[in-house]
This record gives sequence, C-alpha cells and structure tokens, in this order.
Amino acid sequence: QSYDMGGHDTYMHKEISEQPDAVDRVLRGRIDDRFATVRLDGLNLDAREARGVRRVKILGCGSAYHAGLIGAQLIEELARVPADAEPASEFRYRNPVVDPDTLYIAVSQSGETYDTLAAVQELRRKGARVLGVVNVVGSAIARETDGGVYVHAGPEVCVVSTKCFTNTAVAFALLALHLGRIRDLSVADGRRIIAGLRRLPGQIAEILGREEEIAKLAAEYADARSMMFVGRVRGYPVAREASLKLKEVSYIHAEAYPASELKHGPLALIEPAVPTVAVMPEDELLEKNRATLEEVRARGGRILAVAHSEQEKADRTIVVPRNEVELDPILMGVPLQLLAYHTALVLGRDIDKPRNLAKSVTVE
Ligand code: G6P
Repeated sequence: QSYDMGGHDTYMHKEISEQPDAVDRVLRGRIDDRFATVRLDGLNLDAREARGVRRVKILGCGSAYHAGLIGAQLIEELARVPADAEPASEFRYRNPVVDPDTLYIAVSQSGETYDTLAAVQELRRKGARVLGVVNVVGSAIARETDGGVYVHAGPEVCVVSTKCFTNTAVAFALLALHLGRIRDLSVADGRRIIAGLRRLPGQIAEILGREEEIAKLAAEYADARSMMFVGRVRGYPVAREASLKLKEVSYIHAEAYPASELKHGPLALIEPAVPTVAVMPEDELLEKNRATLEEVRARGGRILAVAHSEQEKADRTIVVPRNEVELDPILMGVPLQLLAYHTALVLGRDIDKPRNLAKSVTVE
C-alpha cells in the first residue's frame, strides 16, 4: 500500500497526527443537538429493539479488543446495560452460550480479521444479532453483520493501530449515547457528553502539541527492561492498549495491570529498570491511584503519570486537558501512542512494520 506520507517519516506518525480530523469525521452528521441524540444510520436497531437489549458483548482482537473494553465501559456508564469485551478468538473457541437478549458487537479496523469474522459467523449461525464497529467500508465483517457503525478513521497503513483505535472508542461513545438516550440517560447528561465529544478534536490537537516533551520522556524511559502500565476502571483499558502499543513497536516488554492488583503480585517486579506508567483520570479513584504511586515509589520504581494535573508523587507527568470523565479513556490514550512511537524511534525500530506482526491476520 502506498498512500502519501504527507511529510511524516512514518505512517504511524502521520496517523497519530491525523487524529483531530479523524475524530471530527466520526462525529460529523451524527449528532442531533435538539434532543441530544445520535443518528447512526447503519445501525439497523430500532428503539424497541434497543430497549430490549439486556447485555452487550463486544468481540475483537488486539487494539480492536482494547477499544471494545473502552466501549463496554461507555455502554455500561451511559446506557446502564451490562457490557463486556472479550478477545474474539477466545470467544469462538469456548462454545459460548448465545443469548437472544444479548447484543453482540464485532470490532475490527480491517473488517477481515479471521478470528473476529469466525466469531460473527458462529453467532449468526446461532441466531444472534451481531453489529459491527468497523473501519473498512464493505469489508467481510461489515457485510456479515446485521448493521453497525463505521469508524471513518480513513486508511490506516502502519501495522499498529492508532487513529483507528481512537476513532473506534469515539464510535462506541456515540453508540453508548444513542443507547443511553433511548433508555435512561437524561437530556442534560446527553448534552454534557455531546459537548465533551465536540471538544475532543481540539484537545487531541493540544496533546499532539506536546510531542517534543513526550519525545524527551521517551528518551528518558527507553532504557527500561520492562514497563508496567496501571490504571483503575476508566484508566485500565488505556493502560492495556498503551502496554500493547509499546510492546508492538519498541519491543520493550510491558505489562498492564489494574492498579489495585499490583499488590497481589506484580509489585515484586518493581525496581528502577521497570518504570510504571499510571493512567489517572480525575474521577472518584484519583486518590486511590495516588496511593498506588506511593506504593510503587516506596519500592524504588520510577513513575510517569498521565493525569489532568502534575502528580507530586510521580517523577514525571504528562498533563492532559480535562473533559468529561467518561471520555477520559479516549484522550489519555493519545500521549501514550506518542510515547510508544518515540521510544521505538530512539531504539531505531522498524516502526511501520514491527517484526513478526501483520496489519490484519486473515488466517486462523
Ligand atoms: C493484528 C494487528 C493489530 C490489530 C489486530 C486486529 O494483530 O497487528 O494491530 O489490532 O490485528 O485487527 P483488526 O483489523 O481486526 O482491527
């Protein structure tokens, strides 16, 4: 594939930089301000059906799965429907109980990932309703689902996903808002989230404006033997994706843990060569996250926080603009994409084509 790199040294950098426009695109034409509702034309799920949904199960692989983890949280928070995400591969191999009141959602950038497609086919065979949250229009998963939401990230060439990940999370925010407004989300809350969504492109641009600062941090942490990514609830899927991104592109080993689980094992790994990245939205868990920083520090660990204000207990903080807390996972992922990118750059990695990986895995 050869799309113009537009002056960027890699597709990864180009695609990270395109995010303000990409997010603008996924939102465009889909919001009705009068009723604080969302129009998703391809969804193919009417209000009565939407009200009948008792559970949501999201399936995908790699970054798509992680975007699904954020999606599940948004759906629980905004629509108050129990939701979870699972790797599509695991799901299809464990002979899952297929439930008629569950809405299944397959997530995929390419729309061609075999494990995800196979999960969709198995679900359809068993009579389930399956929607797609897909980037590539007309792809296999888009065709084999009953309806869905296109992510409109535009072509993504770099093997590791950045703009499509962010746009998928935004697409889930729209879907969650849509389901929420059909169910019990108030107009006022709907308006609050819509205003927050509209602030995202500008705020992402603001984060991208800190690239030089993040590049310096990457140089500082590039000697790490391994990195620990932690977060609680809203921060946790961000930690998962940031850990994957770093591994894929820099080959530095990384792990993601719920911050609360550190003390149940991984604390044993903490030492100066194993820095911790803490994702810290300003929600009701901020104080608990600060206590985690203390625990890590007491074991001699270096800490990089991603937060809305300088964190005293961290060695370094990447400050991210404030939005609605529900949308924090979307914003907080962006600086960590840049961190992974610049770490890989410092280490001289093949950024757009990491070893052993393919953009889309179309075989079993
Ligand atoms: C591959 C890529 C990942 C990607 C995953 C799912 O493993 O290396 O970056 O997240 O497939 O791809 P999809 O196209 O289904 O989103």
